[in-house]
Amino acid sequence: MNPLETSNIIFVNGKKTIISKVDHDITVLDLIRTNLKLSGTKEGCAEGDCGACSILVHDGLSSELKPINSCLVRVGQVVGKGIVTIEGIGNDIKPHPIQIAFSEENASQCGYCTPGFIVSGISLLNSNKKINDDTINDAISGNLCRCTGYSPIIKAIKVASKLSEPLKTIKFLEHNKNIKLGNVTYYNPKSLEEMLKLTIHKNYNFLAGGTDLNLRRPIVNEKQNIIICLDSISELKIHKMTNNNLIIGSCVSIEDFLGIVKNRIPELVEILQRFGSPQIRNQGTIGGNISTSSPIGDLAPVLLALNSKIHLFGHDGDTSVLLRDFYLGYRKNIIKKDQIIRSIEIPLPSEGYKFFCWKLSKRYDQDISTISLSIYVKTKNNIIEDIHIAAGGVAEIPKYLESLCKIMIGKTIEDSILAAINQIDKFVQPISDLRGTSTYRIEALKGLFKRLERCLKENSNTMSIMDFKDE
Ligand code: FES
Ligand code: FES
Repeated sequence: MNPLETSNIIFVNGKKTIISKVDHDITVLDLIRTNLKLSGTKEGCAEGDCGACSILVHDGLSSELKPINSCLVRVGQVVGKGIVTIEGIGNDIKPHPIQIAFSEENASQCGYCTPGFIVSGISLLNSNKKINDDTINDAISGNLCRCTGYSPIIKAIKVASKLSEPLKTIKFLEHNKNIKLGNVTYYNPKSLEEMLKLTIHKNYNFLAGGTDLNLRRPIVNEKQNIIICLDSISELKIHKMTNNNLIIGSCVSIEDFLGIVKNRIPELVEILQRFGSPQIRNQGTIGGNISTSSPIGDLAPVLLALNSKIHLFGHDGDTSVLLRDFYLGYRKNIIKKDQIIRSIEIPLPSEGYKFFCWKLSKRYDQDISTISLSIYVKTKNNIIEDIHIAAGGVAEIPKYLESLCKIMIGKTIEDSILAAINQIDKFVQPISDLRGTSTYRIEALKGLFKRLERCLKENSNTMSIMDFKDE
């Protein structure tokens, strides 16, 4: 297959569909509803928050169906792949058992959210996960319903799990994944070598996942006519262990990362689940989350506390930098125009250390952090022997709080926490915004330090903010 050749094929509900007369900037949601006239998929927020636009994607090779938010994906990112919309799941003549269950269990009122819930439900039923309250709650964590209430929806998914056969996907041969839409060509190189060849053109932009970048319109400026999608590059999808370090490719999705670290760093499970819904976790990548350089990105504080290293790749080859030296300012980092993040090297927690990752947000699931705090700490005989703290939402970059760590080391747990609480405003300068005032953020941090004291003194491994109970 010629890596530069373009195609215009997407498999929609099992049918080969030719894409034509489509602007480069439109989302898959716009394509489905406007061009293909499949209006069962709904638009609610158009920014990944409500799940009304959920669809399933597959690669034609495996039977895996992944839910994504079609409002957050550009057409150029699904070319050569298969998508399944609500129309491909069932209709009024031949409804799928989950659609019957939604009807019989009164799991739908106005119905606007229902196609999205059905897609999320189907993706769970098609997976090899057990069906229980936890897995259902996670599967629908990115879907909002304003009128029915969630209990009947959960019940309908449980009922359907007893009736339903897995949704069949069609198999298709691999097709070229490049497409020219108007003046802009989307390339999906398969290797770093192919990617480098594309960068001889000066007018390109990289795109990985796109859960942040795809919110912008236009996605390229008028001088740019090439988008290089990184998600198909095999070298960026690896994971391996070297000594006690986990090396993870930058285009590993958050969902796959969750599976990889589940047994290696179980402290990350909750924060990764709360990172976003399955739709977001399937689309978002680790490298994207770091390179977007948001001061409230969920992963950065975790990786900073563990002293992770970023491996970069570009025209001049490979280079590495500690994440602690990576961020330069608000939404700025050291990556050059021709560079990408190749992988992230994460030292696994050592014996004798405890690791806590906490996130505070207005909504438990699928919300942006107001603040987050990661603490990697070793104590002996009630003394803090070593501690590494990083926080999000407290400055213009995700911040490793080195000076704060210094004043805590060598003290008793009580004195150390007291010092941190009394002096916290010397080390962080949070802003006030819609998610919380500066004062709230400082007070919330103090509360988390109190919680740290309690966890350390009670030798607790409590990881969930939901487990915290008042006496
Ligand atoms: Fe709300 Fe896409 S329309 S998530
Ligand atoms: Fe109306 Fe869910 S049924 S929003």
